[in-house]
Amino acid sequence: MDKRIPMLKMEGVSKIFPGVKALDNVNVTAYGGEVTALMGENGAGKSTLMKILSGVYEKNEGKVFIDGTEAKIKGIKSAEEYGITIIHQEMSVLNNLTVAENIFLGNEKSNKFTGKINNKELVERSKLFLEQIGCNIDPNKLVGNINIGEKQMVEIAKALTKNARVIIMDEPTTALTEVETKSLFIVIENLKKKGIAIIYISHRMEEIFTICDRVEVLRDGKYVGNALIEDIDKDKLISMMVGRKIEEQIPYRDIKKGNVILEVSNLCSPQGVNNATFEVKEGEILGVAGLMGSGRSELAKTIFGEYKKTSGKIKIKGQEVDIKNIHEAIEYGICYLSEDRKKEGCVLNLSVADNMILSNLKKYENKWKSIDKNKAMKDVDYYIEKMKIKTPNREQLMKNLSGGNQQKVILAKWLMLSPEILIVDEPTRGIDVGAKKEIYELLNELKKMGKAIIMISSDMAEVLGISDRIMVMSEGKVSGELLRGEASQESIMKLAVGIN
Ligand SMILES: Nc1ncnc2c1ncn2[C@@H]1O[C@H](COP(=O)(O)OP(=O)(O)OP(=O)(O)O)[C@@H](O)[C@H]1O
Ligand SMILES: [Mg+2]
Repeated sequence: MDKRIPMLKMEGVSKIFPGVKALDNVNVTAYGGEVTALMGENGAGKSTLMKILSGVYEKNEGKVFIDGTEAKIKGIKSAEEYGITIIHQEMSVLNNLTVAENIFLGNEKSNKFTGKINNKELVERSKLFLEQIGCNIDPNKLVGNINIGEKQMVEIAKALTKNARVIIMDEPTTALTEVETKSLFIVIENLKKKGIAIIYISHRMEEIFTICDRVEVLRDGKYVGNALIEDIDKDKLISMMVGRKIEEQIPYRDIKKGNVILEVSNLCSPQGVNNATFEVKEGEILGVAGLMGSGRSELAKTIFGEYKKTSGKIKIKGQEVDIKNIHEAIEYGICYLSEDRKKEGCVLNLSVADNMILSNLKKYENKWKSIDKNKAMKDVDYYIEKMKIKTPNREQLMKNLSGGNQQKVILAKWLMLSPEILIVDEPTRGIDVGAKKEIYELLNELKKMGKAIIMISSDMAEVLGISDRIMVMSEGKVSGELLRGEASQESIMKLAVGIN
């Protein structure tokens, strides 16, 4: 038993949403100067618990203690007064203000005599806060001109101006490049040195074992327990999260490949595709690796008709095609699961069922040109069950689902189209370990049905694990191809950074 007084203690916390008991008597502690990982499957209640802590939601039961004293959190402002800050994934920084202005937003010290805010002082003070986290962005820069990783730093610096003692990060690295993630980890180390308690949520296991000191685990809204990182390993943590062992986490199926179904030659687009040439066969998973910004999503969007190609050819089953927009792409049997699912993938104010059948209306049209609701709902229910989508029913609004479960719905939507060529962009980002395996099995099933799958992914283990062949991109070009078996993390990285 740890004898220290925790910086944060949440005791017996419960939260009920209509039809869902999201949290049931949960206890979580976090210590100053440490990173506490909050782990659990999609829908386990992690974000809800953190929203309660940061004053976004009210709890139904339970108590919160900060430094041994009970904190009566009444809203976001009140949580901030207790020193609790959440770094939101949808950044709350304002693009048309400078870094300095953002850091002191709502907190500016005006000149006592003139009532004006002294910009020079603002910039100088911002520098001090940015320095504390080891970050050297120019405070005069417009926030609209800095990248996502830097925006996160601005939010963290802003938290420090409010004397934050508990900083919550809910899946902070999902939109970051490898380099940005490394910088974030350095900032986290600096926050630890300042004695701040950090609560860290992520589905990326390696991150947990890199920067966390302790883990707290939830399962299905209930408290499972905690452990010191040094006392557990990945398998043990997974079994705490899902209540069982997961054998064969990344299952590969060896299936005989058929004919070439998609042939791309010398494809170029101004968005960042430079002479790409490759092919995919029926029954094949082509993994596409590369650094962020290497043109992988741009390649996908060009094939999918979202971006215009300026030159090059695309052939489907030997026939040259000229795809002008995404509707035509879908007609040709191509589907693209975008990496930016919030923006491109779903309608938050519609139900789970509607989201799934939205792009599939043609498929469910009966001879009277109306929707065969029975058939559609049968498919909807099949996928809810198959992908273990956590929702009380198919009528639940999408916005009430946890992040990972929203992703599963969008993936289901594309699978329901049973495309000939499926392009998936970061298909398991934000998805828990158990559900990841389900998704791999679904991709394997499609492969078995003779479909061609292109899987863009930054998750090395996943690319190496389920691809038949791996194509690596660098600066809009295909920098190399590796067969399953000859590919390794090193050989992929070499091609990704452009070393041959
Ligand atoms: N506003 C809401 N209305 C109804 N149900 C909700 C609401 N917010 C969350 N839930 C439900 O509460 C449960 C917990 O969701 P939560 O977002 O906390 O999960 P999570 O652990 O963060 O999952 P993920 O890893 O997918 O982000 C889920 O069943 C979710 O559907
Ligand atoms: Mg969440």
